[in-house]
Amino acid sequence: MREQWGSRTGFIVATIGAAVGLGNIWRFAYIAGENGGAAFLLVYTVFVVLIGLPLVIAELAIGRRSSGDAVAAFESGQRNALWRYAGWIGVVGAALILSYYAVIAGWAFKYFAGAATGDLWRAAHGGFGGYFDGFIASTFEPVFWQLLMLAATALVVARGVKGGIERINLWLMPVLALIVIGLAVFALSLPGSAKGVSFLFSPDWSALTRPSVYLNALGQAFFSLGVGMAVFVTYGSYLGRDIRLPGAAVTIAAGDTLFAMVAGLAIFPAVFALGGDPAAGPRLAFITFPQVLLQMPGGTWIGMIFFLLLTAAALTSMISLLEVPVAVAVERLGLSRGRAALVISAMVFLLGVPSALSYGVLTEWKLAGQPILDAVDHAISNFVLPVCGLAIAIYAGWRLAPSDSMAAADLLGSRLGPLWLWLLRLGVPLTIAVILLRSLKVL
Ligand code: PHE
Repeated sequence: MREQWGSRTGFIVATIGAAVGLGNIWRFAYIAGENGGAAFLLVYTVFVVLIGLPLVIAELAIGRRSSGDAVAAFESGQRNALWRYAGWIGVVGAALILSYYAVIAGWAFKYFAGAATGDLWRAAHGGFGGYFDGFIASTFEPVFWQLLMLAATALVVARGVKGGIERINLWLMPVLALIVIGLAVFALSLPGSAKGVSFLFSPDWSALTRPSVYLNALGQAFFSLGVGMAVFVTYGSYLGRDIRLPGAAVTIAAGDTLFAMVAGLAIFPAVFALGGDPAAGPRLAFITFPQVLLQMPGGTWIGMIFFLLLTAAALTSMISLLEVPVAVAVERLGLSRGRAALVISAMVFLLGVPSALSYGVLTEWKLAGQPILDAVDHAISNFVLPVCGLAIAIYAGWRLAPSDSMAAADLLGSRLGPLWLWLLRLGVPLTIAVILLRSLKVL
């Protein structure tokens, strides 16, 4: 018998665990910081509601409808074999995201371990810039921590949907929520923190005239929710009929967005209180923020807890990404779960080594003028995820019969059903297409 979630709460918490990750803390802070803070947040939130939410419902519905892996979800009831490629792109994409995601998760883990032993603060007394650059430039270290994170992920996935994935999320997610709230309360109590709050919540409207803000907000909405990578298709496939998907999807999207905002309230007030630069890019969480912490009383404790949060949040997302190809290997190739988790995480590890080395031995190798890791992250978030989202919208909106997809989404007979359908049919594809074409300078 195919596995199922043990409880509705378990499913919701695991799905929020997939959504909440590096995207909400590391990536949200740096993208919001670079794109004008509050104005970005506004565009981002609109995209989450109008594009992300309908897609989360669609992914869960497609997955539950077929009760198979991500490829099967796009095959069931289709004569057109081309659609199965949409599933395969999701599967390969999930592996690709996981490959570099594991590298950044490894950085977080290394920082946590260093903060716990105190080595981090001693080694970085000359400045976190030098410390971080030295670390990511070395050959062995980033690969080592990347491997550890992948091994932990594989161990959980090997134990199954209920016994592994659901269990660890039920443990970790409440702790993470408490930690992030605690960190925000602390940051808000710092003198001078108000500047950080207004950076995040009082918009500088001129930022809205920059087209790149829209592309970055779209990419961030996809990345942070985790849509477009068949994760929700796969998690949805372990669901029974006793849960109503629209309500679940609202909880997931709201939980994810709230988490990012609270994490922003933990980071920006601290950065502003001590005069750091909010637009420091991917280095914000690893250089600017710890540098700030080092200057405040009790900061080293806060740092340890922050990097624990980052590591654990990354782990629950990595688990969801690994589950996508593992489900395919189990169901299509007949591998045991344990073996599938081992083989695929090993492959993902090899795939990620160039990202891990992209600031070290491979620093001369640039893709589109950027280090390998940055280029892969940008390409995936801003292009691959939106294009996959487009495919999902078309599949659920046009390819399936309207009554079929609305029934699968528990929206048949609801007044929101047609709204959801037309968002998928027109709103989502047009918005994505316009933003992508604009950024490719076609429009
Ligand atoms: N949503 C996760 C995060 O914010 C990353 C992720 C992307 C997970 C795509 C699943 C699919 O960190």
